[in-house]
Amino acid sequence: MTSSPWWRGAAIYELYVQSFADADGDGIGDLPGVRARLPYLAALGIDAIWFSPWYPSPRSDAGYDVADYRSIDPAFGTLDDADALIAEGHTHGIRTIIDIVPNHCSDQHQWFQAALAAPPGAAERARFWFRPGRGPGGDIPPNGWQSIFGGPAWTRTTAPDGTPGEWYLHLFAPEQPDFNWANPEVRAEFEAILRFWFDRGVDGIRIDSAAMLTKDPRLPEIGPGDPSPHADRDDVHDIYRAWRAVAEQYSGRVLIGEIWLADATRFARYLRPDEMHTVFNFPYLCCPWDAAQLREVIDGTLAFHAAAGAPATWVLSNHDVDRHVSRYGRADTSFGLDRRDHSQPVDLALGTRRARAAALLTMALPGSVYLYQGEELGLWEVEDLPDDKRQDPIWHRTGGTDPGRDGCRVPLPWAGSEPPFGFSPPDAAKPPWLPQPVQWRELTVEAQTSDPESMLELYRQALRIRRAEAALGEHPDTPMTWRPAPDGVLVFDRGDGLCCVANLSAAPFPLPGRAAVLLASGPLADGLLPPDTSVWLRRPDVPLARPPGRRPGQHE
Ligand code: GLC
Repeated sequence: MTSSPWWRGAAIYELYVQSFADADGDGIGDLPGVRARLPYLAALGIDAIWFSPWYPSPRSDAGYDVADYRSIDPAFGTLDDADALIAEGHTHGIRTIIDIVPNHCSDQHQWFQAALAAPPGAAERARFWFRPGRGPGGDIPPNGWQSIFGGPAWTRTTAPDGTPGEWYLHLFAPEQPDFNWANPEVRAEFEAILRFWFDRGVDGIRIDSAAMLTKDPRLPEIGPGDPSPHADRDDVHDIYRAWRAVAEQYSGRVLIGEIWLADATRFARYLRPDEMHTVFNFPYLCCPWDAAQLREVIDGTLAFHAAAGAPATWVLSNHDVDRHVSRYGRADTSFGLDRRDHSQPVDLALGTRRARAAALLTMALPGSVYLYQGEELGLWEVEDLPDDKRQDPIWHRTGGTDPGRDGCRVPLPWAGSEPPFGFSPPDAAKPPWLPQPVQWRELTVEAQTSDPESMLELYRQALRIRRAEAALGEHPDTPMTWRPAPDGVLVFDRGDGLCCVANLSAAPFPLPGRAAVLLASGPLADGLLPPDTSVWLRRPDVPLARPPGRRPGQHE
């Protein structure tokens, strides 16, 4: 069997640049900080890094408001730093995926500034959605659309003479004006941006808010049951066909869509052979810690991916959601973007135990897996950040009724016994941009390294075995076969000799007798798998395929 393309089975690490490692002491993570930690990532055993947006940005939405798509934010470093990082990553066998934000830019982007300076009807305004207001004086927004971050999706401009002018559309914050994708200049610009980064050696593109780009040009009001005029429209697919054509001019480059859609049939359309390679699996992330529901999501995911010929992806956390240690430690373990709830008590010990079990379950599934920085350390959602430190526009625009996403973005603890825990150098001029809990002294990389019971060592071992086992990372399309199991227990085989058992029930589960334990997420007692624990087993007659090490096809 030949190896699959790298992205079909890769373990991809989401690196949230401003919270990863700060080399210059300004309290904000940066690219030299990442470079210095590449050996850590290589030893962890990942195949690729997905970088959160690294472009110049006023950071009204943590970099998802891009002022220049062809440059690096000076707080993070320079284009030379990015080039060095991409090249050095490759020497470690780590590929680079960058985040492209095509639905909107920053209000500081040159095009939007030019649009503001131009009169109504000018070509500069046609790259965005400018419209006159309604009512006498035009002081009612052009329609009633609401921003995803709260409040109206329209903001009024002021003409150079100080009088109120047209309104512009922003489905997110007012600092994030939406592009008009019906405009050919917008399309050509983004295809050029893709080439710019592919030419620099970038291996993949994570496409932000990928279902949203195109809008119904009539900008209609949205009645109950109406199809969305600004999400998942049929014409958005033309964009990805053009992007795929760009990617195909290079070798081994991948397009990954951020698509939050409940309807699997609509979702699968993005995976047609001439569109994206993969999409994120948010139903899995949002699923409660419940065996029957997880099994249903897993089966559903595999079914529609098989129909599309695309590999499934599995993800437990990212920079937009509550960390799963906290989610799984609540009475209600489900998650929805529209009901982030920090009022529920969290049992961190329980959440951590389940997160360990979930890691083994997830990494045994067919396809690629995404890790969000800090999950390998078992970090939890920081729910008690001081209000004056919070930066997320969601928190501000909802008047604090939605706690927002700052709690999963707190800088990583690397070493030492007090903040900044090695995130910044000892002589740093500023503290980390979000304060770290003192309890994280037990979760630093230093504290966990070599502790066989730590989350970090569990991730290192799991990734090592996943890479070594042909049925997992190397041949990610190896089917999974469910075995009969009692309620609350998930048992499945991958390939010939590998078996994953996850016990989500309240009772210990007796493991099959002759199998050897490859890895367990918690202590086993007398051949019993305790509740909230997972294990990888190997039948004794099936030996390891090949010694642990690099996967074939990786950059040398
Ligand atoms: C995506 C990003 C999120 C951002 C939003 C607007 O959902 O993941 O962080 O706020 O798009 O760009």
